[in-house]
Amino acid sequence: MARSIADLYWVMFGAAVIVLAIVVGALVIAGIRFRERPGHQARQYHGNNVLELIWTVVPTLMVIAFSVLSFQRLALVNDVDSGAAMTVKADGQQWVWNFQYPLGFDPSDPAGKDDISSLNQLHLEVGTPVIVYISSKDVIHAFYVPKLGGQKDAVPGRETSTWIQADRPGTYAGQCIEFCGAGHADMLITVVAQSPADYDAWLAGALKDANRFTSPDVAKGKQLFTTLACAGCHTIQGLTKATIGPELTHIASQKTPIGGVAGLDVNEANLIKWIGNAPGIKPGIVMPVFSNKYGGPLDDATINTIVQFLLTLK
Ligand code: CUA
Repeated sequence: MARSIADLYWVMFGAAVIVLAIVVGALVIAGIRFRERPGHQARQYHGNNVLELIWTVVPTLMVIAFSVLSFQRLALVNDVDSGAAMTVKADGQQWVWNFQYPLGFDPSDPAGKDDISSLNQLHLEVGTPVIVYISSKDVIHAFYVPKLGGQKDAVPGRETSTWIQADRPGTYAGQCIEFCGAGHADMLITVVAQSPADYDAWLAGALKDANRFTSPDVAKGKQLFTTLACAGCHTIQGLTKATIGPELTHIASQKTPIGGVAGLDVNEANLIKWIGNAPGIKPGIVMPVFSNKYGGPLDDATINTIVQFLLTLK
């Protein structure tokens, strides 16, 4: 899909360059040849039927041709149901993307109950068309990975859909492309396209890690997480269910930085910093200040205990 959109783009770009060359060329030639100079009387024209016909008919035909080509692409972009082998849910919110992978990749069950999830990073199998069901938890965002497909709005209260396909393994950069507030520029998407074997290995690891809340070392942090404000906003599969903040089921193995803030990799120190004063790091964010150093309700020890628990969520 991305290739067919790019091809059309180059056709339009080429046509635009040709039109620009003709118009500017004619303007420059006319300006030089017919400029005012001594002893040279300007001739007066009152219309030229041939010229006017040309510059009416040619652009009209071009616009019609581009419309037909665009609608063909649009049909391809919207042809979500043909041949997709995998479905993914993409939820946008200020300012992260949460991706959910239904097990078994059953297209008739996009909300399969054993979902695994990842934040800002979407894993898929190379060569496989993937349906992306897109929604938003707050304002309008837009899902766009230019090298894989067209863009699609994420609208609160509604589910839109598109499909993407990566033909080569690798990572593909994408971004929210609808201005959605102070953190819009940080709302990045990384698509990781893997060979079937690599993908299966990643999936197996993610599944295995999805349920391990047993360590006594983290029992206290787990209890704090479920009883304090954390649980009101964040889902951890099998533990809490909330939709205001991003899901944290695999926060400890997340490859993208916390909150999508460049340089803020997931580690102990950064998690403590983030929970303590997230608005200080990412202005405009819904998550409040928690450290009592900044006027929040929690002391250092409490935050640290919660972070020790979060670090087990691989
Ligand atoms: Cu979300 Cu821009």
